[in-house]
Amino acid sequence: MLSSLVFYLLWALHLSLGAEVEVINQWPLLDFEIPYNFPIRGFVPENNVFTGMEVGYNRIFLAIPRLRSGVPATLAWIPRSTTSGSSPQLRPYPNWDFHNPAANCSGLISVYRIRADNCERLWVMDSGVMTSLEDFTPVCPPKLMVFDMRTDTLLRVVTFPRNVLRPNSLLTNLILDESGFSCDDTAVYITDTANPGLVVYDSRKDAAWRFTHPSMWPEPDRSSYTVGGESFTLMDGIIGLALSHSDQGLPDFRSLAKPEKVLYFQALASDRIYSVSTSVLRNGPLPERSMLPVTLLGKKSSQGAALSVDSRDGSIIFSPVAETAIASWSPTTGINRVIAYDPQKLQFVTDISFSKRDGGNMWLMSTRLQKLFNRSFSPREINFRIIRIIPDIQNSLLL
Ligand SMILES: *[C@@H]1O[C@H](CO)[C@@H](O)[C@H](O)[C@H]1NC(C)=O
Ligand SMILES: *[C@@H]1O[C@H](CO)[C@@H](O)[C@H](O)[C@H]1NC(C)=O
Repeated sequence: MLSSLVFYLLWALHLSLGAEVEVINQWPLLDFEIPYNFPIRGFVPENNVFTGMEVGYNRIFLAIPRLRSGVPATLAWIPRSTTSGSSPQLRPYPNWDFHNPAANCSGLISVYRIRADNCERLWVMDSGVMTSLEDFTPVCPPKLMVFDMRTDTLLRVVTFPRNVLRPNSLLTNLILDESGFSCDDTAVYITDTANPGLVVYDSRKDAAWRFTHPSMWPEPDRSSYTVGGESFTLMDGIIGLALSHSDQGLPDFRSLAKPEKVLYFQALASDRIYSVSTSVLRNGPLPERSMLPVTLLGKKSSQGAALSVDSRDGSIIFSPVAETAIASWSPTTGINRVIAYDPQKLQFVTDISFSKRDGGNMWLMSTRLQKLFNRSFSPREINFRIIRIIPDIQNSLLL
Protein backbone atom coordinates (compact mmCIF):
# COMPACT_ATOMS: atom_id res chain seq x y z
CA MET A 1 0.00 0.00 0.00
CA LEU A 2 1.44 3.37 -0.97
CA SER A 3 0.43 6.27 1.14
CA SER A 4 -0.58 9.41 -0.70
CA LEU A 5 0.55 11.66 2.12
CA VAL A 6 2.84 14.36 0.84
CA PHE A 7 4.50 16.67 3.24
CA TYR A 8 6.08 19.42 1.21
CA LEU A 9 6.99 22.42 3.27
CA LEU A 10 5.71 25.76 2.22
CA TRP A 11 7.81 28.73 3.09
CA ALA A 12 6.38 31.81 4.72
CA LEU A 13 9.59 33.20 6.01
CA HIS A 14 8.17 36.50 7.14
CA LEU A 15 6.43 34.65 9.97
CA SER A 16 8.60 34.48 13.01
CA LEU A 17 8.79 31.05 14.51
CA GLY A 18 8.36 30.34 18.17
CA ALA A 19 11.10 27.78 18.80
CA GLU A 20 14.23 28.97 20.46
CA VAL A 21 17.46 27.91 18.72
CA GLU A 22 19.93 27.80 21.60
CA VAL A 23 23.56 27.35 20.58
CA ILE A 24 25.22 25.24 23.27
CA ASN A 25 28.66 25.06 21.65
CA GLN A 26 30.09 26.22 18.35
CA TRP A 27 33.39 26.04 16.53
CA PRO A 28 34.94 27.52 13.38
CA LEU A 29 36.90 24.25 13.10
CA LEU A 30 36.94 21.34 15.54
CA ASP A 31 39.87 21.33 17.92
CA PHE A 32 41.24 18.47 20.04
CA GLU A 33 43.06 18.43 23.35
CA ILE A 34 46.18 16.64 22.11
CA PRO A 35 48.94 15.95 24.68
CA TYR A 36 52.33 17.47 23.75
CA ASN A 37 54.19 14.19 23.47
CA PHE A 38 51.39 12.20 21.89
CA PRO A 39 52.20 10.71 18.49
CA ILE A 40 49.19 12.06 16.54
CA ARG A 41 50.49 12.62 13.07
CA GLY A 42 48.94 15.03 10.65
CA PHE A 43 45.92 16.58 12.37
CA VAL A 44 44.13 18.34 9.51
CA PRO A 45 41.47 20.55 11.17
CA GLU A 46 39.45 21.20 7.98
CA ASN A 47 39.03 17.43 7.44
CA ASN A 48 37.32 16.96 10.81
CA VAL A 49 33.51 17.06 10.88
CA PHE A 50 31.18 15.61 13.47
CA THR A 51 28.10 13.70 12.36
CA GLY A 52 26.75 12.01 15.50
CA MET A 53 26.01 13.08 19.05
CA GLU A 54 24.69 11.75 22.33
CA VAL A 55 23.89 13.84 25.38
CA GLY A 56 25.03 12.34 28.69
CA TYR A 57 24.40 13.75 32.16
CA ASN A 58 27.71 15.62 32.36
CA ARG A 59 29.17 15.17 28.91
CA ILE A 60 28.29 15.39 25.25
CA PHE A 61 29.67 12.52 23.18
CA LEU A 62 30.62 13.23 19.57
CA ALA A 63 31.33 11.00 16.57
CA ILE A 64 33.87 12.34 14.05
CA PRO A 65 34.11 9.85 11.16
CA ARG A 66 37.39 9.55 9.31
CA LEU A 67 35.92 10.77 6.02
CA ARG A 68 39.33 12.14 5.08
CA SER A 69 42.76 11.75 6.64
CA GLY A 70 43.86 13.85 9.60
CA VAL A 71 41.24 12.96 12.23
CA PRO A 72 42.98 12.44 15.60
CA ALA A 73 40.07 10.70 17.40
CA THR A 74 36.86 9.38 15.88
CA LEU A 75 34.93 9.41 19.18
CA ALA A 76 35.23 12.31 21.59
CA TRP A 77 33.51 14.15 24.41
CA ILE A 78 33.16 17.64 25.79
CA PRO A 79 31.81 18.68 29.18
CA ARG A 80 28.18 19.79 29.31
CA SER A 81 28.88 22.55 31.77
CA THR A 82 30.55 24.97 29.37
CA THR A 83 29.69 28.60 28.69
CA SER A 84 26.97 28.76 26.10
CA GLY A 85 28.38 29.38 22.64
CA SER A 86 31.92 28.37 23.69
CA SER A 87 34.32 26.16 21.70
CA PRO A 88 35.65 23.49 24.05
CA GLN A 89 38.47 21.25 22.88
CA LEU A 90 37.40 17.70 22.08
CA ARG A 91 38.82 14.92 24.27
CA PRO A 92 39.14 11.33 23.04
CA TYR A 93 36.65 8.75 24.31
CA PRO A 94 37.34 6.67 26.25
CA ASN A 95 41.05 7.54 25.88
CA TRP A 96 43.74 7.99 23.23
CA ASP A 97 44.64 4.28 23.21
CA PHE A 98 41.42 3.53 21.33
CA HIS A 99 42.29 5.94 18.52
CA ASN A 100 45.51 4.67 17.05
CA PRO A 101 44.51 3.36 13.62
CA ALA A 102 48.03 2.05 13.06
CA ALA A 103 47.51 -0.50 15.86
CA ASN A 104 45.22 -3.51 15.51
CA CYS A 105 41.45 -3.74 15.17
CA SER A 106 40.81 -3.53 18.92
CA GLY A 107 40.47 0.27 18.71
CA LEU A 108 38.05 2.58 16.92
CA ILE A 109 38.53 3.29 13.22
CA SER A 110 35.69 5.54 12.02
CA VAL A 111 32.47 6.24 13.88
CA TYR A 112 29.46 8.04 12.33
CA ARG A 113 26.78 7.68 15.02
CA ILE A 114 26.46 6.68 18.67
CA ARG A 115 23.45 5.98 20.92
CA ALA A 116 23.03 5.70 24.70
CA ASP A 117 20.60 3.17 26.16
CA ASN A 118 18.48 3.19 29.33
CA CYS A 119 21.17 1.18 31.15
CA GLU A 120 23.83 3.93 30.97
CA ARG A 121 25.67 2.31 28.13
CA LEU A 122 26.99 4.00 25.01
CA TRP A 123 26.63 1.96 21.81
CA VAL A 124 29.28 2.94 19.26
CA MET A 125 29.02 1.81 15.63
CA ASP A 126 32.54 1.60 14.20
CA SER A 127 32.40 1.29 10.42
CA GLY A 128 36.00 0.08 10.17
CA VAL A 129 36.44 2.10 6.97
CA MET A 130 39.25 4.66 6.77
CA THR A 131 39.11 7.81 4.63
CA SER A 132 35.77 6.83 3.10
CA LEU A 133 35.55 9.95 0.90
CA GLU A 134 39.14 9.68 -0.33
CA ASP A 135 39.92 6.03 -1.05
CA PHE A 136 37.38 4.04 1.04
CA THR A 137 39.81 1.69 2.78
CA PRO A 138 38.14 -0.99 4.93
CA VAL A 139 40.99 -1.53 7.41
CA CYS A 140 39.03 -3.54 10.00
CA PRO A 141 35.72 -5.40 10.08
CA PRO A 142 32.89 -3.18 11.37
CA LYS A 143 32.01 -3.64 15.04
CA LEU A 144 29.65 -2.40 17.70
CA MET A 145 31.41 -1.33 20.88
CA VAL A 146 29.42 -0.91 24.07
CA PHE A 147 30.87 1.29 26.82
CA ASP A 148 29.72 1.80 30.38
CA MET A 149 29.24 5.57 30.64
CA ARG A 150 29.65 5.48 34.43
CA THR A 151 33.10 3.90 34.35
CA ASP A 152 34.15 4.53 30.73
CA THR A 153 35.07 0.88 30.36
CA LEU A 154 34.47 -1.31 27.34
CA LEU A 155 31.75 -3.86 28.15
CA ARG A 156 31.26 -5.64 24.89
CA VAL A 157 32.41 -5.87 21.28
CA VAL A 158 30.02 -7.21 18.66
CA THR A 159 31.36 -8.32 15.31
CA PHE A 160 29.14 -9.39 12.44
CA PRO A 161 28.91 -12.64 10.53
CA ARG A 162 30.31 -12.48 7.00
CA ASN A 163 26.86 -12.96 5.40
CA VAL A 164 25.44 -9.66 6.70
CA LEU A 165 28.31 -7.63 5.23
CA ARG A 166 29.27 -6.70 1.68
CA PRO A 167 32.72 -5.72 0.35
CA ASN A 168 31.76 -2.03 0.33
CA SER A 169 29.60 -2.01 3.48
CA LEU A 170 29.64 1.24 5.44
CA LEU A 171 27.75 0.81 8.72
CA THR A 172 26.95 4.36 9.74
CA ASN A 173 23.87 4.82 11.90
CA LEU A 174 22.18 2.78 14.61
CA ILE A 175 19.04 2.90 16.69
CA LEU A 176 18.32 0.91 19.83
CA ASP A 177 14.99 -0.86 20.25
CA GLU A 178 14.82 -1.46 23.98
CA SER A 179 11.41 -3.11 24.13
CA GLY A 180 12.79 -6.04 26.11
CA PHE A 181 12.55 -6.27 29.87
CA SER A 182 16.25 -6.39 30.56
CA CYS A 183 19.38 -4.53 29.46
CA ASP A 184 20.42 -7.63 27.55
CA ASP A 185 17.32 -7.72 25.38
CA THR A 186 17.95 -4.94 22.88
CA ALA A 187 17.61 -5.00 19.12
CA VAL A 188 19.90 -2.70 17.16
CA TYR A 189 18.94 -1.53 13.66
CA ILE A 190 21.99 -0.44 11.68
CA THR A 191 22.22 1.33 8.33
CA ASP A 192 24.57 0.18 5.59
CA THR A 193 24.84 3.43 3.64
CA ALA A 194 27.25 2.46 0.85
CA ASN A 195 25.78 -0.96 0.01
CA PRO A 196 22.28 0.02 1.03
CA GLY A 197 20.66 -2.23 3.59
CA LEU A 198 19.58 -2.64 7.19
CA VAL A 199 21.47 -4.90 9.56
CA VAL A 200 19.58 -6.11 12.63
CA TYR A 201 21.51 -7.23 15.68
CA ASP A 202 19.57 -9.06 18.39
CA SER A 203 21.58 -8.83 21.60
CA ARG A 204 19.61 -11.54 23.40
CA LYS A 205 20.24 -14.11 20.68
CA ASP A 206 23.63 -12.58 19.79
CA ALA A 207 22.64 -12.94 16.14
CA ALA A 208 22.58 -10.58 13.17
CA TRP A 209 20.86 -10.59 9.80
CA ARG A 210 20.43 -8.27 6.85
CA PHE A 211 17.65 -6.76 4.75
CA THR A 212 17.75 -4.68 1.63
CA HIS A 213 15.00 -2.94 -0.32
CA PRO A 214 14.95 -0.44 -3.22
CA SER A 215 13.72 2.25 -0.78
CA MET A 216 17.13 2.15 0.91
CA TRP A 217 19.01 3.06 -2.25
CA PRO A 218 19.95 6.58 -3.40
CA GLU A 219 17.98 8.29 -6.16
CA PRO A 220 20.28 9.74 -8.87
CA ASP A 221 18.08 12.82 -9.36
CA ARG A 222 18.26 13.56 -5.62
CA SER A 223 22.02 13.19 -5.26
CA SER A 224 22.92 16.91 -5.38
CA TYR A 225 22.61 19.02 -2.27
CA THR A 226 22.57 22.79 -2.18
CA VAL A 227 23.07 24.49 1.16
CA GLY A 228 23.76 28.19 1.56
CA GLY A 229 24.59 28.61 -2.13
CA GLU A 230 27.14 25.77 -2.30
CA SER A 231 26.47 22.39 -3.88
CA PHE A 232 27.91 18.92 -3.79
CA THR A 233 26.95 15.48 -5.03
CA LEU A 234 26.90 12.29 -2.98
CA MET A 235 25.12 9.03 -3.83
CA ASP A 236 24.52 7.91 -0.25
CA GLY A 237 21.81 5.41 0.63
CA ILE A 238 19.93 4.77 3.87
CA ILE A 239 21.17 6.95 6.73
CA GLY A 240 18.32 8.41 8.83
CA LEU A 241 16.59 6.14 11.39
CA ALA A 242 13.90 6.79 13.98
CA LEU A 243 11.60 4.57 16.03
CA SER A 244 7.92 5.29 16.62
CA HIS A 245 6.58 5.52 20.13
CA SER A 246 5.90 2.15 21.65
CA ASP A 247 2.39 3.35 22.51
CA GLN A 248 1.80 5.00 19.14
CA GLY A 249 2.96 3.32 15.96
CA LEU A 250 0.57 2.36 13.26
CA PRO A 251 -2.35 0.11 14.24
CA ASP A 252 -2.09 -3.50 13.24
CA PHE A 253 -5.33 -4.23 11.41
CA ARG A 254 -4.92 -7.98 11.14
CA SER A 255 -5.07 -8.58 14.85
CA LEU A 256 -6.38 -6.22 17.46
CA ALA A 257 -3.14 -6.63 19.34
CA LYS A 258 -1.32 -3.64 20.74
CA PRO A 259 0.11 -1.31 18.08
CA GLU A 260 3.53 -2.40 16.99
CA LYS A 261 6.54 -0.15 16.71
CA VAL A 262 7.59 1.19 13.35
CA LEU A 263 11.08 2.05 12.11
CA TYR A 264 11.17 5.20 9.97
CA PHE A 265 14.08 5.55 7.58
CA GLN A 266 15.43 7.68 4.75
CA ALA A 267 18.31 7.54 2.31
CA LEU A 268 20.46 10.66 2.05
CA ALA A 269 20.06 10.97 -1.74
CA SER A 270 16.26 10.88 -1.52
CA ASP A 271 13.32 13.11 -0.68
CA ARG A 272 11.26 10.26 0.77
CA ILE A 273 10.62 8.85 4.21
CA TYR A 274 9.65 5.17 4.52
CA SER A 275 8.58 2.90 7.33
CA VAL A 276 8.77 -0.78 8.18
CA SER A 277 7.35 -2.70 11.13
CA THR A 278 9.93 -3.66 13.75
CA SER A 279 8.26 -7.02 14.34
CA VAL A 280 9.15 -7.95 10.75
CA LEU A 281 12.72 -6.77 11.31
CA ARG A 282 13.08 -8.63 14.59
CA ASN A 283 11.61 -11.81 13.20
CA GLY A 284 14.82 -12.85 11.45
CA PRO A 285 15.86 -12.97 7.80
CA LEU A 286 13.20 -13.15 5.10
CA PRO A 287 12.69 -16.30 3.08
CA GLU A 288 14.30 -16.18 -0.35
CA ARG A 289 12.43 -14.15 -3.02
CA SER A 290 10.20 -12.39 -0.49
CA MET A 291 10.16 -8.63 -0.22
CA LEU A 292 10.49 -6.54 2.94
CA PRO A 293 7.07 -4.86 3.51
CA VAL A 294 8.13 -1.21 3.31
CA THR A 295 5.61 1.67 3.26
CA LEU A 296 6.22 5.06 1.64
CA LEU A 297 5.15 7.66 4.19
CA GLY A 298 5.65 10.79 2.14
CA LYS A 299 7.97 13.25 0.44
CA LYS A 300 9.97 16.09 1.87
CA SER A 301 10.92 19.37 0.20
CA SER A 302 14.60 18.33 0.15
CA GLN A 303 16.98 15.64 1.36
CA GLY A 304 18.29 15.18 4.87
CA ALA A 305 20.43 12.95 7.05
CA ALA A 306 18.92 13.26 10.52
CA LEU A 307 15.62 11.69 11.47
CA SER A 308 13.98 11.50 14.87
CA VAL A 309 10.67 11.03 16.63
CA ASP A 310 9.40 13.58 19.12
CA SER A 311 9.13 11.65 22.36
CA ARG A 312 6.21 13.86 23.44
CA ASP A 313 3.76 13.39 20.58
CA GLY A 314 5.27 10.78 18.24
CA SER A 315 5.70 13.16 15.30
CA ILE A 316 8.56 12.58 12.86
CA ILE A 317 11.30 15.23 12.99
CA PHE A 318 13.53 15.88 9.99
CA SER A 319 15.70 18.61 8.57
CA PRO A 320 15.35 19.39 4.85
CA VAL A 321 18.87 20.58 3.93
CA ALA A 322 17.99 23.14 1.27
CA GLU A 323 15.54 24.91 3.59
CA THR A 324 17.94 24.96 6.61
CA ALA A 325 15.01 24.09 8.84
CA ILE A 326 13.71 21.59 11.34
CA ALA A 327 10.27 20.26 10.47
CA SER A 328 7.84 17.82 11.98
CA TRP A 329 5.12 15.66 10.51
CA SER A 330 2.60 13.73 12.54
CA PRO A 331 1.84 10.27 11.11
CA THR A 332 -1.44 10.21 13.06
CA THR A 333 -2.87 13.65 12.21
CA GLY A 334 -0.89 14.46 9.05
CA ILE A 335 -0.04 17.90 10.43
CA ASN A 336 3.18 19.53 9.18
CA ARG A 337 5.03 22.10 11.23
CA VAL A 338 8.19 24.11 10.75
CA ILE A 339 9.78 23.97 14.18
CA ALA A 340 12.81 26.13 13.48
CA TYR A 341 14.35 27.94 10.56
CA ASP A 342 17.81 29.47 10.52
CA PRO A 343 19.82 29.91 7.32
CA GLN A 344 23.11 30.18 9.25
CA LYS A 345 22.79 27.85 12.22
CA LEU A 346 20.91 24.98 10.57
CA GLN A 347 23.25 24.28 7.64
CA PHE A 348 23.31 20.50 7.23
CA VAL A 349 21.89 18.98 10.37
CA THR A 350 23.44 15.51 10.74
CA ASP A 351 21.86 14.27 13.97
CA ILE A 352 18.72 15.05 16.00
CA SER A 353 17.66 13.38 19.24
CA PHE A 354 15.36 13.94 22.19
CA SER A 355 17.53 13.69 25.22
CA LYS A 356 16.41 11.55 28.14
CA ARG A 357 19.26 13.13 30.06
CA ASP A 358 18.04 16.66 29.45
CA GLY A 359 14.34 16.53 30.26
CA GLY A 360 13.40 15.27 26.79
CA ASN A 361 14.61 18.39 24.98
CA MET A 362 15.51 18.26 21.31
CA TRP A 363 19.24 18.41 20.60
CA LEU A 364 20.86 18.57 17.21
CA MET A 365 24.18 19.18 15.54
CA SER A 366 24.87 21.07 12.34
CA THR A 367 27.96 20.61 10.20
CA ARG A 368 28.50 22.56 7.02
CA LEU A 369 29.11 19.40 5.03
CA GLN A 370 28.90 21.32 1.74
CA LYS A 371 32.11 23.08 2.76
CA LEU A 372 33.90 19.80 3.46
CA PHE A 373 33.15 18.69 -0.09
CA ASN A 374 34.01 22.06 -1.65
CA ARG A 375 37.09 22.46 0.62
CA SER A 376 35.79 25.91 1.49
CA PHE A 377 35.71 25.94 5.31
CA SER A 378 36.63 29.39 6.53
CA PRO A 379 38.25 29.49 10.00
CA ARG A 380 36.71 32.95 10.42
CA GLU A 381 33.14 31.61 10.35
CA ILE A 382 31.25 29.29 12.67
CA ASN A 383 30.88 25.96 10.84
CA PHE A 384 29.96 23.51 13.61
CA ARG A 385 27.20 23.85 16.16
CA ILE A 386 25.55 21.89 18.92
CA ILE A 387 22.05 23.24 19.35
CA ARG A 388 19.18 22.72 21.73
CA ILE A 389 15.67 23.51 20.57
CA ILE A 390 12.80 24.06 22.90
CA PRO A 391 9.82 24.02 20.57
CA ASP A 392 6.97 26.41 21.13
CA ILE A 393 4.07 24.31 19.88
CA GLN A 394 1.56 27.18 20.02
CA ASN A 395 3.58 29.54 17.88
CA SER A 396 5.09 27.14 15.40
CA LEU A 397 3.93 27.47 11.85
CA LEU A 398 1.09 25.13 11.05
CA LEU A 399 0.86 24.06 7.42
C1 LIG B 1 45.91 -4.57 20.16
O1 LIG B 1 46.33 -3.30 20.65
C2 LIG B 1 46.03 -3.09 22.02
C3 LIG B 1 46.40 -1.67 22.37
O2 LIG B 1 47.33 -1.13 21.52
C4 LIG B 1 46.75 -4.13 22.87
O3 LIG B 1 46.44 -3.94 24.24
C5 LIG B 1 46.29 -5.52 22.44
O4 LIG B 1 47.02 -6.51 23.15
C6 LIG B 1 46.51 -5.72 20.94
N1 LIG B 1 45.88 -6.96 20.55
C7 LIG B 1 46.47 -7.83 19.72
C8 LIG B 1 45.69 -9.07 19.40
O5 LIG B 1 47.57 -7.64 19.24
C1 LIG C 1 32.79 26.45 -3.62
O1 LIG C 1 33.11 27.55 -2.81
C2 LIG C 1 33.40 28.75 -3.52
C3 LIG C 1 33.78 29.80 -2.49
O2 LIG C 1 34.90 29.40 -1.77
C4 LIG C 1 32.19 29.16 -4.33
O3 LIG C 1 32.50 30.32 -5.09
C5 LIG C 1 31.77 28.04 -5.26
O4 LIG C 1 30.58 28.37 -5.91
C6 LIG C 1 31.57 26.76 -4.47
N1 LIG C 1 31.34 25.64 -5.38
C7 LIG C 1 30.19 24.96 -5.39
C8 LIG C 1 30.15 23.83 -6.34
O5 LIG C 1 29.25 25.23 -4.67
